[in-house]
Amino acid sequence: MLMIFQPVLSPAIMCSALPALALALALSLALLQSSVAFVPIGGGAATHVSITGTALLQKLKETCKAVAEASGHEFNPTGPSAEELVRACLGPTATGEVSAAKFRAALQEVYVQNGLVDRDFVASAPHHFNSEAFLEGRGLITEGVVSIKANIRKQNHQASREMLGRVLHTLQDFYSHSNWVELGYTEPFANLIQPDLPIENIAAKETATCSDCASGNCPNPILANILQEKKLTSGYIGIFTSEKPKGKCSHGGAGDLTSAAIPRGGISKDERRPGNEGLHDAAVTAATSASLQLLEDIRGAAGDRDFLRLMGIDRSSVVCFVIDTTGSMAREIATAKEMVYLIIDSKKGTQDEPSEYILVPFNDPHFGPMTRTTDPEVMKKEISKLKAKGGGDAPEMCLSGLQMALTGAPASSHIYVFTDAIAKDIALKDTILALMRSSKSTVSFFMTNARGRKRRSVTASFNDYTDLALASGGQAIQVTKGNLPEATDIILDTATSALVTVLQLSRSSGSETFTFLLDESLRNITLYITGSRLTFTITNPAGVSQSNTQLGGGLGTIQSVGNLWRIRLDDDKQSGTWKIQMASAQPYTLKVTGQNTITFIYDFVVPFEGPHPGYAPIAGRPQAGRPTMLLLSVMGRKGPASVTVGEVGLIPVSRAENVSRGSTTDMGNGDILVTVDAVPQGEFVVILTGTDSVSGSQFQRQSTTQMSVSKVIVTAVVDSSVEPGQMLIIPFSVMTEGSGGPCSINARNNREFPMTFPKSVPLTTGQYANATLTITPPKDTPSGTDVTLTIEAKTSASADSNYAVLRLSVVTKITDFVRPTCKVDRVAADDCPADVSQCASFRWDLSANVTDGKGTGIDRITLRQGDGVLSHDALTNLDIEASYNASCCSQIAEIVVVDKVGNVGKCFHSIAPPTIAPSVGPPSLGLARPLLLLCLLLAALNARS
Ligand SMILES: *[C@@H]1O[C@H](CO)[C@@H](O)[C@H](O)[C@H]1NC(C)=O
Ligand SMILES: *[C@@H]1O[C@H](CO)[C@@H](O)[C@H](O)[C@H]1NC(C)=O
Ligand SMILES: *[C@@H]1O[C@H](CO)[C@@H](O)[C@H](O)[C@H]1NC(C)=O
Ligand SMILES: *[C@@H]1O[C@H](CO)[C@@H](O)[C@H](O)[C@H]1NC(C)=O
Ligand SMILES: *[C@@H]1O[C@H](CO)[C@@H](O)[C@H](O)[C@H]1NC(C)=O
Repeated sequence: MLMIFQPVLSPAIMCSALPALALALALSLALLQSSVAFVPIGGGAATHVSITGTALLQKLKETCKAVAEASGHEFNPTGPSAEELVRACLGPTATGEVSAAKFRAALQEVYVQNGLVDRDFVASAPHHFNSEAFLEGRGLITEGVVSIKANIRKQNHQASREMLGRVLHTLQDFYSHSNWVELGYTEPFANLIQPDLPIENIAAKETATCSDCASGNCPNPILANILQEKKLTSGYIGIFTSEKPKGKCSHGGAGDLTSAAIPRGGISKDERRPGNEGLHDAAVTAATSASLQLLEDIRGAAGDRDFLRLMGIDRSSVVCFVIDTTGSMAREIATAKEMVYLIIDSKKGTQDEPSEYILVPFNDPHFGPMTRTTDPEVMKKEISKLKAKGGGDAPEMCLSGLQMALTGAPASSHIYVFTDAIAKDIALKDTILALMRSSKSTVSFFMTNARGRKRRSVTASFNDYTDLALASGGQAIQVTKGNLPEATDIILDTATSALVTVLQLSRSSGSETFTFLLDESLRNITLYITGSRLTFTITNPAGVSQSNTQLGGGLGTIQSVGNLWRIRLDDDKQSGTWKIQMASAQPYTLKVTGQNTITFIYDFVVPFEGPHPGYAPIAGRPQAGRPTMLLLSVMGRKGPASVTVGEVGLIPVSRAENVSRGSTTDMGNGDILVTVDAVPQGEFVVILTGTDSVSGSQFQRQSTTQMSVSKVIVTAVVDSSVEPGQMLIIPFSVMTEGSGGPCSINARNNREFPMTFPKSVPLTTGQYANATLTITPPKDTPSGTDVTLTIEAKTSASADSNYAVLRLSVVTKITDFVRPTCKVDRVAADDCPADVSQCASFRWDLSANVTDGKGTGIDRITLRQGDGVLSHDALTNLDIEASYNASCCSQIAEIVVVDKVGNVGKCFHSIAPPTIAPSVGPPSLGLARPLLLLCLLLAALNARS
């Protein structure tokens, strides 16, 4: 029966025919897929990724719906794609477009970390609930969830996402690797995510659990007494040894040597094989429901808005300023302040309104603190407080301030630095390059040094800023203090939620003609040229030209200030191939940008082997001398299906050379694996062309961050969070395929926590050298502090280098896992009329008792469902009364209470007559609902045919 309906259940049909059911059916759909397997990203048709994706998308849709309804609009995605979900979630009221790139990148981060548990912790039993390590496995989940919640509170969303991916992997593995589903359970084991509940009935170490299976493939070899006594067990696995305790089950499969030892076979339900379909499907169902429960817990602790922000569902426009506040900077500070006010006031209510503001002042010898806020009024206040004082034009702590911004801002931000002095902390330059490359943020500098001032340093110059700007895809703008206001339009241009780069390059000098493709739906197309004493002529597809001397003619408006040219093309521009002819005796840069939602995200990856092979992103530079691989996701206006990818490749930034084309493998769902055999020398960017099937127009996009390959590799993995005052030991390895010899090591962290590491390691060509780094966060470090750590390695012989970027969380151990309680005490709904059409003129109310018992105390009481008014006593009370009243038309109320460490409690009440019980009740997301909906769907389909 399912076979017959599989082709009919395409997402498109689900949504057009039965929009209300689409949500829950997405879950059922995943369950119907024929070969869902617990393998990581890229390892099979459907994977840990599909289980995680199904659960995340369902939870996000529920959250979007709640947020939309609370703000009075309907949540109505036009289709099932991430792009359409983001648009519908952010609401129809705001004008403008918003890119789904951050959402896709956030999903990707969770998926990738989920998959990497199979590489980085392949031999760790607790990470996979192997070898009956139930308490240890649950310990990892508990510790992970504490860290996720602490990081969300501090708005460290990337750290939270990475941990979320790992925790979900371990949780999901329980259902594949234990005998939970063999015991007949269909609901998830709630105790795994409720640390205050015990895990009992684990089979004793000496208790045999499996019968021998000579064929190696028996559907359920669990011993009958184990099943009867409901004893919990899981499979042992040995990658290097076949030893296991007597009588115990094995994981099974080719990679598990213990599966050949009696009792032979295995109980893993990772793959759907002939004979184990039922158990495999049950494990997938339970793993999906368990993932939903964990996400619901995190959503409760975070609150709906922050849960959406965690997953990148937000306007992507972010304002980030790094400002020199020495005495000579008064005019620049005033200009930056005006710009902040202008952005806030002019973008309000549009999709281009920044979702976050970041401000980092620096001086000498101080820098920071960083202001990071979602509240525009706080940003206005903070920037108004900045005063120019002290210093002069002596070198400043510019790069320290920039480091703070790069590690604090979300990935792919546009950061603007205002300064009139060279950097004193130039030793940070390599760290800054590593952080720019790994965060893919773009840094532009406004350098306002008055001409003729003495340079006080021989090691640093304004050229350092130019190098950094170029490497990140930003601009190095040199203007006089008086002219600065004329140069800042570029900030307004990038304060948008859908910015794309069409072309980006630099040349040392000379005459050259460049072509670029402008697609029909591209808006606000702007060309930026930096350089001096240059000429250019722009020509559109129809042959109409405009040169640099015709400021207002033909194709657009040309502004010129300092070393910056800004050319805004007219709105009625023609799509097609444009040309720009450049001539300059000096170095120059050219960049073409526009606004559009057709874009792509990418990561350089390396394949990894093991029982569950896959692809892992690398934070450093790809390895030289072998093909470079990228995992790339393309976003169309209506999801990946609405674009056709043409060519993907790498192109040098500063030399005329053809694109190094990559071969592409479609990984499904808009994800493409690109392999480039002949990698360009020097710095390159990613280029992608394709066709938008909505308009039929061809498009071209480029990445902004420059990259290059290296013969040196640095690898390191952080395996846990660290407690304040404790030392964390991080092993790392360095290798070179160039010539050996001493390799200097430099490590830095953005919090200035004390570290130890060897200053140099001796390298032998082709061999990994192992070393360790220690880092000790001070005792008073607040829980939820994230630390960005860079480890740089530079060989002296070949002057080649590479780096690793690690993120770790400082989390205080917590012992309070008791959920706060919320009990409905009194309901007064007698006024509500039986005739629902009369409901509008009557109200009902309830009161509830809220307490955290002996816990840390209540932090927040909020309304999850219901249209009424919620109020409560002071949160400092031991027993808190919460009161709710609502129109009789709003029949359900759900109250969420969160304590100070993120434990979540809920209460729910419905005044609907019992015969038509609401489908959305307190969280109980087992099979019942999807199955019910499936039946409804079957009925509907029958009715249609
Ligand atoms: C982008 O173009 C639209 C019209 O196409 C215009 O309303 C908007 O102001 C422009 N945005 C910027 C930053 O210039
Ligand atoms: C690029 O490719 C074209 C056609 O294959 C070739 O004629 C041209 O010389 C190449 N250009 C460079 C710079 O390699
Ligand atoms: C470093 O560690 C790796 C893996 O742990 C090992 O294969 C390698 O031999 C070690 N290298 C040295 C020089 O000890
Ligand atoms: C709520 O608190 C009141 C006052 O402490 C108490 O009388 C009542 O029994 C409580 N109700 C519930 C449901 O716990
Ligand atoms: C509903 O609750 C609010 C806040 O406590 C209160 O001001 C209002 O009077 C209540 N309305 C009714 C009809 O009880």
